[in-house]
Amino acid sequence: MGRLVVVSNRLADPRKAAAGGLAVALGETLKRTGGLWFGWSGKIVEDGTPGEGELHVHQAGSVTLAELDLSKEDHDSYYRGYANGVLWPVFHYRLDLANFESGHLGGYRRVNQLFARKLYPLLKPDDIIWIHDYHLIPLAAELRAMGCENRIGFFLHIPLPPPPILAAIPSHEWLIRAMFAYDLVGFQSHLDVQHFAHYVKAEATAESVGANQFRAFNSTVQAEAFPIGIDVADFQRLGRAREARETYETTVKEYSRRRLLIGVDRLDYSKGLPQRIRAFRELLLAYPENRHSATLLQVASPSREDVDAYNDIQHELESLCGSINGDFGDFDWMPIRYIHRTVARKRLPGLYRACAVALVTPLRDGMNLVAKEFVAAQDEEDPGVLVLSRFAGAAEQMPQALMVNPYDTHGTAQVIQQALQMSLGERRERHAALLEGIRKYDVHWWCREFLRTLGEAKQPPSATEQN
Ligand code: ADP
Ligand code: F6P
Repeated sequence: MGRLVVVSNRLADPRKAAAGGLAVALGETLKRTGGLWFGWSGKIVEDGTPGEGELHVHQAGSVTLAELDLSKEDHDSYYRGYANGVLWPVFHYRLDLANFESGHLGGYRRVNQLFARKLYPLLKPDDIIWIHDYHLIPLAAELRAMGCENRIGFFLHIPLPPPPILAAIPSHEWLIRAMFAYDLVGFQSHLDVQHFAHYVKAEATAESVGANQFRAFNSTVQAEAFPIGIDVADFQRLGRAREARETYETTVKEYSRRRLLIGVDRLDYSKGLPQRIRAFRELLLAYPENRHSATLLQVASPSREDVDAYNDIQHELESLCGSINGDFGDFDWMPIRYIHRTVARKRLPGLYRACAVALVTPLRDGMNLVAKEFVAAQDEEDPGVLVLSRFAGAAEQMPQALMVNPYDTHGTAQVIQQALQMSLGERRERHAALLEGIRKYDVHWWCREFLRTLGEAKQPPSATEQN
């Protein structure tokens, strides 16, 4: 197989910790395979020229990192305006939060063209190109227009909504047409694949030409589900190391008489944080035996703070946590410890292990890796319980978790109580099944399956066919 070339907006040194499912998963994949990782450097050039950016190429272990600076104008329109102001909310079913008036589509196209222009000269003929996420949907079409005939796959880390929601994006036809420049398009769940199939048949009059293969715009694309996983063995190794053990011990000691619940998320409106906090308040109201006993540790890492909706959610969360602590807290017990920070990855397994229950309750999520990390970190003899939103992609794969509808505050509180009361036998049984599942479908399975399927997908179209 040729060299693996991974392209994503966000990149990270694979030897260092990162927050965000994509950076964590790709870092773990590339550490094994080696290859080239191309993406945004994280640098914004205040007075930079739109459509231009300096490229920095350097080696990080076996991975070559190619990092592109973006001008402020490009970053504002491509990342903040279009990717996070239009695509992220719509793909997470939040039409109410999308800003369609922003006119940032031009910047989105311009940055995708810039990525193509800078990436193309670095490519070798037998490279396998794997492009990631909603920031870069049109990148393959741009590369094809330049003559690129390599195999190109795309993986969407976030959900794909049903056609009536997708069609609210003014440029939806252009966006989905761009997916036909790929040889393989991967989604997190079967539900996402169904949405893609329904959309292309209804809106693009695509024909089914084989199992999961669709033909339209003079091109054929294969669409399949590849639920992303974690590196279970590596995460468990991290759990046995000093930092995680120390975190476990200090947490257990600090909260010696308490039952701990944990939430670990980017501070994002898709994660259902206010709904989760309200369900926790409902737990304290409906099951008062949890007062002075249950403590929720909520860690929320700062994310996209320059997008308005993210500021709003931060204020809402702070005020909710403050009011619950004020109403229920006592001198020797606070119901919620809310930390607005990224926890060092080395400490995470220890934190998860110290907790009896994990609350993974997004309103909508492509997959959710925290659910899998929590399971991997547990003591098999005395495991904690996973409470999981039915609207996370992970729900398709983790039926042994306790499922909740995060919009249903009382129902969620009831399930949290069930989790806190669960017998050791039932906890072990559910945990063993969950662990088996995440071991089988880990991040290496995800990577292998995607690349194998990409290798077997139809021959790449010629550049002229695309135009
Ligand atoms: P998303 O990709 O939307 O951020 P995921 O749950 O799939 O959501 O992935 C999040 C990743 O980032 C996980 O590996 C998780 O451990 C990490 N992460 C999220 N929030 C934090 C935090 N506050 N501190 C440390 N790591 C975090
Ligand atoms: O996994 C979904 C995702 O949007 C990734 O594409 C992204 O890298 C991550 O969440 C964190 O978001 P951001 O890169 O905007 O900080």
